[in-house]
Amino acid sequence: RLPMSTTSTDREQWSSQIGFVLAAAGSAIGLGNIWRFPYLAGEGGGGAFVLIYLLCILFIGMPYLFGELSLGRNSQKNPVGAIKSITGGGSAWIVVGGFCVLAGFVILSYYSVVAGWAVGYAVKDVLAPTMGFEAFAASPWLNVGLVAFFLLLTLLVVVGGVEKGIERWAKILLPVLFVLILLVIVRAVTLDGAAEGLRFYLVPDFSEITFDLVIAALGQAFFTLSLGMGAMITYGSYLPKREDIAMSGGYVVLFNTMIALMAGFMIFPALFAMGADPATGPALVFVVLPEVFAQMPLGGIVEFLFFLLLSIAALTSSISLLEVVVSYFVDEKNWSRRKSVLIIGVITFLMALPSALSFGAVGAFSDLSYLFGEGGLFGQNNVLGVLDYLIGSAGLAVGAFFLSVFIGWVWGADRAADELRQGSSTLADGFLGVWIFGMRYIIPVVVFGIVMGYLTGTL
Ligand code: PFF
Repeated sequence: RLPMSTTSTDREQWSSQIGFVLAAAGSAIGLGNIWRFPYLAGEGGGGAFVLIYLLCILFIGMPYLFGELSLGRNSQKNPVGAIKSITGGGSAWIVVGGFCVLAGFVILSYYSVVAGWAVGYAVKDVLAPTMGFEAFAASPWLNVGLVAFFLLLTLLVVVGGVEKGIERWAKILLPVLFVLILLVIVRAVTLDGAAEGLRFYLVPDFSEITFDLVIAALGQAFFTLSLGMGAMITYGSYLPKREDIAMSGGYVVLFNTMIALMAGFMIFPALFAMGADPATGPALVFVVLPEVFAQMPLGGIVEFLFFLLLSIAALTSSISLLEVVVSYFVDEKNWSRRKSVLIIGVITFLMALPSALSFGAVGAFSDLSYLFGEGGLFGQNNVLGVLDYLIGSAGLAVGAFFLSVFIGWVWGADRAADELRQGSSTLADGFLGVWIFGMRYIIPVVVFGIVMGYLTGTL
């Protein structure tokens, strides 16, 4: 029988507050900040999107994050175990936990494909300097190789465990990421014409604010804070009782927001200086930026640094996606960490293949019009796009809706507040009273609005 580490007394824990904060910030900071946030802001008119996004983070994302973290620490378990610990076995709510684990698998599978592109682009100038994005994304062996490489890195970190794997690597990689971003920002804001980009990015044009923009900003707030699929329940489950959840969670939100804002500071000045269109959509980082780099003095180095930092940010997030699934098998099935990582890694790699081959390499994965018709499913026509929409966008909103109802009503926001109080010497009762109200009445209603926004397919 394989050794197990499942009882709450010998459960692994973060070694320090800073260790937890960096690991959770590592989960939050990822492709969402550097790839998704800038293209959404570019499409949403710049400053207007940024403003609404910040409000969504502060008033919805952060309080809900406290809820997931407190559920995790209270139960000391993965999402399924956490729900079981409150309802007992046999409750229908366990399905929500099951959804979290499944979403971890699925998001990891396609997230690794985009992360693989980032890795590939870091070395593209050496390997295939003249290759355009379309040819790159359509190359089967390149994509399969890059996914395999990126997943392998993720597996190697997670097999090391909570403290010696996840926490140690987050402590190394996040500071590196921070320095690399600063270097790229210095280059970007010193370009001629950068000021116009800064104005677009920072000065809100209130006429741009629409219902769709608000929904997109809310959805981004959940994606970027890794909410709605139990990643923060899982990371919370390794928190010692002496830690202050709200304070640590607040730092995670602060760092995550800083990196997203910094991503804008590197991208918009460069875009405007080179006369590129900010509203290019998901291709922004892979199609437009390399063109910008090519025209820029020292562009080759900046390009390498940029894609290196994108890869690093993606790695500290993919780790958390894998950890959700691994913690489920370790807690609930008594598998060893090593066995879980190996088996889940192989399955995820196989699941990633359709996404990796969905940009032209295999026609049946690239054009799903034979399934969904010409317009695609919610406008998505390849495997990666459909999975990102169904699981990464709408799915996270559905998950966050059920989890917020679970925390607010089934477990009870007042009991969650007791968990928040433990380890905290600073939380005022007045704040907790507002938090309880928000967790019960405001967050579920607002999140239901995002679900409807996604399902009516206007986004
Ligand atoms: N927060 C990550 C990002 O912004 O790239 C993505 C993510 C990671 C979403 C983990 C959900 C998750 F559980």
